[in-house]
Amino acid sequence: MRHLLDTTDLSLDEIDDIISLATDIISNPKKYAHVCDGKKLATLFFEPSTRTRLSFEAAMYELGGNVIGFSEASSTSASKGETVEDTVRIVSNYADIIAMRHPLEGAPRVAVTKTLVPIINAGDGGHAHPTQTLADLLTFFREKCRLDNLTIGLCGDLKFGRTVHSLIKAMCRYKNIKFVLIAPNELQVPDYIIKDVLEPSGTKYVQVESMDAVMPDLDVLYMTRIQRERFFSAEEYLKYENAFILDLDKLENAKSDLTIMHPLPRVNEIATNVDDDPRAKYFEQALNGKYVRMALIMTLLKWGGQLEY
Ligand code: NCD
Repeated sequence: MRHLLDTTDLSLDEIDDIISLATDIISNPKKYAHVCDGKKLATLFFEPSTRTRLSFEAAMYELGGNVIGFSEASSTSASKGETVEDTVRIVSNYADIIAMRHPLEGAPRVAVTKTLVPIINAGDGGHAHPTQTLADLLTFFREKCRLDNLTIGLCGDLKFGRTVHSLIKAMCRYKNIKFVLIAPNELQVPDYIIKDVLEPSGTKYVQVESMDAVMPDLDVLYMTRIQRERFFSAEEYLKYENAFILDLDKLENAKSDLTIMHPLPRVNEIATNVDDDPRAKYFEQALNGKYVRMALIMTLLKWGGQLEY
C-alpha cells in the first residue's frame, strides 16, 4: 500500500505513468467508466475547498465509484476533540481510499500511521499539495509537450502557498528548469525550500520583487493568492493584499506562447479580462485536476492490490 503525502513520494517514472494514464482517460473516458465500480473514496476536508474536493469526488464518480465524507471539521467529531488518527482509523473501515485536507502541516503524516487504506494529502496547512502539482504537471505537458527546459515564474505568496512548495519540489527533478521567484521579500519561499530543495538539486533560480522585467523570459507564469488565512493578523495581510496583480498591460512584453496558470481560487491577483487571453490556462488546469486525480486514484488502488486494470 502506498500513500501520496508529497510529490517526492512518486518517482519520475511513476509521475510519467500517471500523466500518461490521465491523458488516456481524457481521450477515452468510456474505457474507465466502471474501473472503480463498488469502490468508495472518503473525502475528509477539515479545511475549506472547492476545486480539490469536488474534483476528487467527480473523479471517483467518473470511474464508477462512490464518495463519502465531509467538507468542514465543525460537522464531525473533530469538534468534540477526536484526533485525526482516530478519525482516519475509523473512516478507513468505511472506504477504500482517503483524500484528506487539514490546516495543520504534517497531519496526513500522522494519519498514515493508523490508516488501513491509501491516503492522499489534499493540502496540509502551508506545507504541501501534491495533487495540485500533478494537475500542474499535466497542464505543462498538455500545453508545452514537455516537463523540462522551462522557465517558470512563481508569483505571489510563495511563503505560505503550499501549491508552490510542492511544485518546486517536483520540478527540481527535471532538466534545465529555471525558477523566477516573484514576491515581496517577506513572502519569499521558506528557507528550507532554498536550502533543502532548490540548492541541492542545482536548479537555477532568481528572487525578484517585480514581474515587469522578468516577464519576457517566462514560459510559464504561475500566479498565486496571498494566503490570508495563514497570516497572524489582518494588518499584516493588508500590507500584501494588492502586492501583485496581473493585467493585460503587464502581459504586453510576455511570450506569445506563455502559459498563465493559477491553482485558484483567485481573489484579485489576475484581472478578469486576462481570462479571455488565449494564454490563460487556469480553468483548463482545474479541469486537468479532475483527470489526474482519476489517474491517481486508480494507481494507488492498484498499488494497494485493490484494483486490477
Ligand atoms: C490551493 C490550495 O488550497 O492550496 N487551491 C487549490 O487547491 N486549488 C490554492 C489556494 O488556496 O490559494
